[in-house]
Amino acid sequence: MAYEEVLKAVFPLLEGVDLASCMAVCKQWKDIARDDYFWKCICAKRWPSICKQPNPPTVTYYKLYQTFYRRQQRRTLPPPKLSFDDLEFFIDIWTEDRLIFSEVVPGPVLQTGIKVPPPGICDVLRFHLEGPEFKMRQAVKPRFTIPLSQTVSVSVLVARKDSNTVACIINKSMFEYIDRTAYRAMAFDFLEFSPVHPFISGARAWFSLLFNEDGNEGVIDVFGIEMDFCDTANSKEEVLWLLDMLDWK
Ligand SMILES: *[C@@H]1O[C@H](CO)[C@@H](O)[C@H](O)[C@H]1NC(C)=O
Repeated sequence: MAYEEVLKAVFPLLEGVDLASCMAVCKQWKDIARDDYFWKCICAKRWPSICKQPNPPTVTYYKLYQTFYRRQQRRTLPPPKLSFDDLEFFIDIWTEDRLIFSEVVPGPVLQTGIKVPPPGICDVLRFHLEGPEFKMRQAVKPRFTIPLSQTVSVSVLVARKDSNTVACIINKSMFEYIDRTAYRAMAFDFLEFSPVHPFISGARAWFSLLFNEDGNEGVIDVFGIEMDFCDTANSKEEVLWLLDMLDWK
């Protein structure tokens, strides 16, 4: 009995993680440490106002602690309903008013990306291509060059075969930013979400032209295109979930 009394005197002084560790010691400790009174003491340190109600806001204070007090585990997404096999991307790029790239790119192609970087690309770009984030990419054949003095713009539509609908990803955005140290020219647009997701805004689609320096100061030599939603979605699953939320029509 005295031993139990000691535990009951010590447990209220512990932090939640330590009390949880005590629960793993043996059945007797666990039975004692489960007493919701201890968990009430711990929760009351974080939310003193919970003591103003006679009962815990969840089934037990222990449950409240488990749910909100501990560091949140990174949630894993359920499998997306959409697949790259269902998708087709319509990509058009203009310099001023001349169309310089116009292709229907199947989803699986963008998903696979650029497996073998072309010879002669700089290290910065090589590291970028080998990076862990999921990006949609395609090598462009034939390559094309763009005079730096010209404005360049891009449009991207995406169609899904499972429901015969389309959504707009980029509505003629300019490449306003050319990063010569990263060998990328970038354009972005804000995504339009379905009205069933009214509280989401500010998620951007980024579109990059990947280029080589070709010795000629005035032009960039484009060998690949890249699209991502790096502000919001960085894995394949996240990208598919995000695409699924677009305003499909
Ligand atoms: C695209 O931009 C044009 C011109 O700015 C605008 O009229 C049109 O509504 C836009 N379309 C979409 C789908 O946002």
